Amino acid sequence: MSLQEHVAQEFANRFGTPPDIIARAPGRVNLIGEHTDYNDGFVLPMAIDRAVWIALRPRNDSYVVIYSLDYDEVAEFSPAEMSQESQRHGEWVEYMKGVAWALQEAGWTLNGWEGVMAGDVPIGAGLSSSAAIELATARAFAELSSHVWDAVEMAKICQRAENEWVGMKSGIMDQLISSAGVEGRALLIDCRWLTLEPVPLPPDTRVVIMDTTTRRELVTSAYNERRRQCEQAASFFNVSALRDVSLQQFEAAADLLDPVVAKRARHVITENERTLQAADAMRAGDATTFGRLMDASHTSLRDDFEVTNDALNTIVEIARRQAGCYGARMTGGGFGGCAVALVRADVEAAFIESVTAAYRQETGLDARIYVSPAAAGASVVVPVGG
Ligand code: GLA
Repeated sequence: MSLQEHVAQEFANRFGTPPDIIARAPGRVNLIGEHTDYNDGFVLPMAIDRAVWIALRPRNDSYVVIYSLDYDEVAEFSPAEMSQESQRHGEWVEYMKGVAWALQEAGWTLNGWEGVMAGDVPIGAGLSSSAAIELATARAFAELSSHVWDAVEMAKICQRAENEWVGMKSGIMDQLISSAGVEGRALLIDCRWLTLEPVPLPPDTRVVIMDTTTRRELVTSAYNERRRQCEQAASFFNVSALRDVSLQQFEAAADLLDPVVAKRARHVITENERTLQAADAMRAGDATTFGRLMDASHTSLRDDFEVTNDALNTIVEIARRQAGCYGARMTGGGFGGCAVALVRADVEAAFIESVTAAYRQETGLDARIYVSPAAAGASVVVPVGG
């Protein structure tokens, strides 16, 4: 049974009727352009075929009542009566409350609803399970108030929920790709101007996601620290964001910077260049160049930005050793979670088998491997009989 069917069926069990609507928003994998979004830079993610689904119907009051199949838990809140003091940190419902809060801050009047939610984006893996919850929630609210779906606007509202309600100072990438993803395409996103360019994957390739199954605590504080270091570097160069510093400018002054801050800045500046080159390679259908840029991105994230861990470095090394692998790198925020590889379509099965075996042998861990096409962004489905 698909997740869509599953939430619809569970809805019918609980409420005695089919849901009125089903909202869905995908997770994502970032192909290249890591830790560049909050530096006004470039990213190249695609939405994946794993998502959060919410089956729902409106209520007559303003309450939101939601049953999570994954946590087997009911949560409820009233958008009219929320306070940040009553937050239960780290809980799934806070992402939904944060969206309700941010929508109201943007001037929306919200209708209540009740529903059932389930998702198959692995949590804490660097595949944006939280953005998927946020965008599915926003999609549900927008549908109930008959708002036209403005993908960029909604991504900004959900980013605000994440930044100010949840407290993770993330950039715009995850929310934007979850809201605006295009089937069969990655998106080159200019995170300053929020312009999007769909680019096709190189022909006869597969995007393989490799979950190391390692997770790190306190990711939020490590992430926010990286962000502060980047801001420090930008203010040293007297610009609003590192996007505005060229490699030449950086190299001419790097010695004057704190050494750690200099490494962080070098990553961001070189990663922006790699991302633009990677988009060129994609437009040219050049998987070899694309893969080389992925490799260089990982090295920079490992040595300069220092957001990898042993498991990520190991699985990336293993992936690169395989025949038909163009390149591999960690993906997402880092500190554990997933890596991504671009591989020749005809070696897919052998690649998965060898990576799984070698990773188990070298680490004693069982990787989880997903092959995903590029999926569409957040959407609403009117269920049969709804
Ligand atoms: C997390 C954040 C994004 C982005 C990545 C790193 O996924 O939510 O905004 O900064 O890390 O590229």
